[in-house]
Amino acid sequence: MANIRWVTGPQLSHGAPVGASSFTRAPAAAGDADDALTAAYRRFLATHPSPPGGSLLGQTVAIAPVRQAFLPLVPLAPGWRVLDVGTGYGSVAFELAHRQPVTVTGVDVDPAVAAAAGELAGGLTSWLDPGATVAFREGSAEALPVPDGSFELATATLLLQHVPSPPAVVAELWRVLRPGGLAFAFDVDDGLGATYPRSEALDRLEAAFDAWQASYGGDRRIGRKLSVLFAEQGFEIVRLEVLTQAQHLHTSPGDQLRALTAARLLAAKPGIVGQGFLDGPTFDQLLGEYQRAAAHPLCRMEGRVALVARKPVTRSGEPPVSR
Ligand SMILES: C[S@@+](CC[C@H](N)C(=O)[O-])C[C@H]1O[C@@H](n2cnc3c(N)ncnc32)[C@H](O)[C@@H]1O
Repeated sequence: MANIRWVTGPQLSHGAPVGASSFTRAPAAAGDADDALTAAYRRFLATHPSPPGGSLLGQTVAIAPVRQAFLPLVPLAPGWRVLDVGTGYGSVAFELAHRQPVTVTGVDVDPAVAAAAGELAGGLTSWLDPGATVAFREGSAEALPVPDGSFELATATLLLQHVPSPPAVVAELWRVLRPGGLAFAFDVDDGLGATYPRSEALDRLEAAFDAWQASYGGDRRIGRKLSVLFAEQGFEIVRLEVLTQAQHLHTSPGDQLRALTAARLLAAKPGIVGQGFLDGPTFDQLLGEYQRAAAHPLCRMEGRVALVARKPVTRSGEPPVSR
């Protein structure tokens, strides 16, 4: 099975940030992403053939290079309390605890996924910073199970595209941050991508997937809305960037790209068919066409949006969180 390899765009190392901060560390090259965390996920996959969350764990492994690109943009300092909202398999929570002696809490609405992340944590202790702790719990982003003003950093990566009301989640991030605390959001914007050559079957399936995701409030173009969403809540926008990645590969039936795409679409099939965006036989026919199409070279380009926003210091004069 061919691995997906990513080539980072020049913006990743030379982009001009909005705001005062600048890169302190170049993003890892694609090959560096296959680290201890990815190895732990692969071991978990090997022992849990049907892990909770459907294709989520496979996707978490596959997007390691994307994660390595945005992680250097996440502000972090020793001693911070960090809340990772919509943590999934805890990739961001683990990576931050690997980098600094911080206390990270990962929250996910899916209790089985949160429990699996907790199981993984046991095997990663020696990889984490000795002064860091990581814990996971079930919880909804719209009603986070934590007190007001109790975190220096709140992260929401690849979450806001899924929620029915992004403003409600952003309001919760505001609530749980202490004055001067920082939010980090990272998400997709399909309008920033391009693929050549296109697959008509896949185009129709993706259009149905997008319509289904939009039907429950999800948004595959949330990236462009992030700064406005956070500004409307009262946050100061510290940094806003588009991270681009390009991928050239020879795709063939059964490769990793097609397998992951098919798994994601199949997981959504009940919703897509149930709501009439495609009928069942058409869905199956299009998916079969996509999966069986002859091998060919392919270029994929994607753009995702990263945001750092600050909850302003209140009149009480509490000092801002400093890096
Ligand atoms: C695409 S995954 C992203 C996981 C992780 N943040 C990452 O960057 O790899 C989205 C996660 O958000 C969780 N999620 C979706 N809606 C949620 C909500 N309303 N509250 C909390 N978690 C939610 C899902 O269960 C899933 O684990």
